[in-house]
Amino acid sequence: MAIPIDVRERAGALREALLRHDHAYYVLDAPTIPDAEYDRLFRELQQLEESHPELRSADSPTQRVGGAPAPDLVAVRHAVPMLSIRTETDVTADGARAFDARVRNALALTPEDPPVSYLAELKFDGLAISLRYEHGILVRAATRGDGETGEDVTHNVRTIREVPLRLQGNAPELIEIRGELYMRRDAFEKLNARQRAAGEKVFVNPRNAAAGTVRQLDPRVAARRPLSFFAYGTGQSTGFEMPDTQAGLLDALAGLGVPVCEHRTVSPGPEGLVAFHARIAALRDQLPYDIDGVVYKVNRIALQRELGFVSREPRWSVAHKYPAQEEITRLVDIDVQVGRTGALTPVARLQPVFVGGVTVTNATLHNQDEIDRKDVRIGDWVIVRRAGDVIPEVVGPVLERREGTLERFDLLARFPNCPVCGSHVVRAEDEAVARCSGGLFCPAQRKQALLHFSGRRAMDIEGLGEKVVDQLVDGAIVRTPADLYRLGLVALASLERMGKKSARNLLAAIEKSRDTTLARFIFALGIRNVGETTARDLARHFGGLDALMAADIDALQNVPDVGPVVARSTAEFFAEPHNREVIEQLRAAGVHWPEGEPVMATGILSGKTFVLTGALPTLTRDAAKARIEKLGGKVSGSVSKKTGYVVAGSEAGSKLAKAQELGVPIIDEAQLLALLQAADGTAEHLRSQASK
Ligand code: IVH
Repeated sequence: MAIPIDVRERAGALREALLRHDHAYYVLDAPTIPDAEYDRLFRELQQLEESHPELRSADSPTQRVGGAPAPDLVAVRHAVPMLSIRTETDVTADGARAFDARVRNALALTPEDPPVSYLAELKFDGLAISLRYEHGILVRAATRGDGETGEDVTHNVRTIREVPLRLQGNAPELIEIRGELYMRRDAFEKLNARQRAAGEKVFVNPRNAAAGTVRQLDPRVAARRPLSFFAYGTGQSTGFEMPDTQAGLLDALAGLGVPVCEHRTVSPGPEGLVAFHARIAALRDQLPYDIDGVVYKVNRIALQRELGFVSREPRWSVAHKYPAQEEITRLVDIDVQVGRTGALTPVARLQPVFVGGVTVTNATLHNQDEIDRKDVRIGDWVIVRRAGDVIPEVVGPVLERREGTLERFDLLARFPNCPVCGSHVVRAEDEAVARCSGGLFCPAQRKQALLHFSGRRAMDIEGLGEKVVDQLVDGAIVRTPADLYRLGLVALASLERMGKKSARNLLAAIEKSRDTTLARFIFALGIRNVGETTARDLARHFGGLDALMAADIDALQNVPDVGPVVARSTAEFFAEPHNREVIEQLRAAGVHWPEGEPVMATGILSGKTFVLTGALPTLTRDAAKARIEKLGGKVSGSVSKKTGYVVAGSEAGSKLAKAQELGVPIIDEAQLLALLQAADGTAEHLRSQASK
């Protein structure tokens, strides 16, 4: 069946528009349309392609993921070999001068000759990749391999949003764009957190994560691990007019729509290179990605050709490295730190080591599972990593250097009690972290507990922010939430940056919070796993606090939507005598609520569970949730067969996929609003009926 001309044109226009928006969003970092509008265009194209599969083209933005897993990576021969860069061993400013001297010497220049112009750029710490574009379309992506032969990783590179599937503007017949694939530090942290939570292998650094990702056989796995790309050169090309300079080449590549790093400079002679090296050194920690140095290149391409290369290294380029971000040192001991939520984090005490530009003596070991997985033992030589502002971390032991038999570390055996408050330490079977059970009693957790207690959705004490809480706790003025209700004007007004007026306002806010609801009070207690919704369920079910406090795990599990995890943490919380004490003090201080509210679930949406995913165009998540709950609906975090609706916004991920898989109805914000309006109308109608 022939495709109608208007359909073909519409698909073409949509593809153009989406590619343009992708470029604006992923390369220029300057989105041109709201996400919701992008999604709408994307879906329209998807639908057109579904009804007319012949419309699907390799450069369609709908085709980024979805390829079948590769059975194996296929070898690719590079027509133009991928070179490496010589490392300047002298890491002082003299390194740049030595490079300039070598270049001038090789070019037989005399001191009277004018300075050689250089381009300075970053040395990205990822892996080199060659992207082959034919008539502007990405047809192949290959790793560097040994420089002569790499591996075909097209299926994964296609999933990288920063890599255009089609070049912009006047694309040459053939061009191989070379550059670096890397993983941003935030993406790396997120990936590792996810791996850790899933009990899977964590990556030692962003470079390894990037390399592991790009060599994945299954593109669906790669698609979930965002990679980034910077172009810095070209390989084979036909019909591409090579600019005169390296700097011009970078501009030309940016003009084709590929990302080029903004940090680059052209310098006549070596002095500008020295300055660049220093400037980037100061910037290094703030960059969102790892670099291991800067690279200098002779700017004129003609001079580069004249200089040629020795073995695999061009004479016209050199890498000037920075101090390493990974070093080896001795693990002297393991301590624990109690976090604001009671989590005990094992901390490595290290023999001081200079890494990432500072002397490091402590590094995180995350949790017991990580210690086991890495098999780190006290007395080991370990690799320590410090990149950017990230907390230094122990990557792993250097097993070849282990002397004798070292004992495995067992956190619970070493710290059966919280080192801060003495409450016992517990670790749930299905959890990686050990926690202090002291809750409100543990000083390390007090600040967080107080902030949570006074939060808008809890006791709603306006004016009790972090600065005030810090002073109250550090000055031992407030230990538990109950102490808040004993605060006087004098004590408050004496705090830093707190005049009489704000002190009076705060006191009034505290006073006002005495009159609350049971649901708010339960939520305010900060019981683990008990969020706002669960607190409301518990309040509704038990009607009063005493009934809740007396409930055992079975009784708790009778509450709709309360499972074993919530039941256990709730029971554990009320079993802790310190917590009961604080609750009694709060009641004695006059905190009260209407008890014995009936168990009611009469909302028009009652029994309907909604799952929100992605960013909605106008509603915040809290607002959407509040409106659903007001009409008796529930909002849940995970999709199951029982889910009523999935409300999908832009960048909806796995939940959307799950809903599609289970056949759960998927609606957008507009449909949700329509539904709420209809439900509200019905509710109104029922109310007026009842009052007649
Ligand atoms: S140019 C001229 N430029 O370093 C030689 N390489 O040792 C061709 N790299 O495998 C490479 N940043 O992965 C060049 N700005 C940059 C670079 C860079 C990082 C990596 C690249 C290559 C290795 C060479």
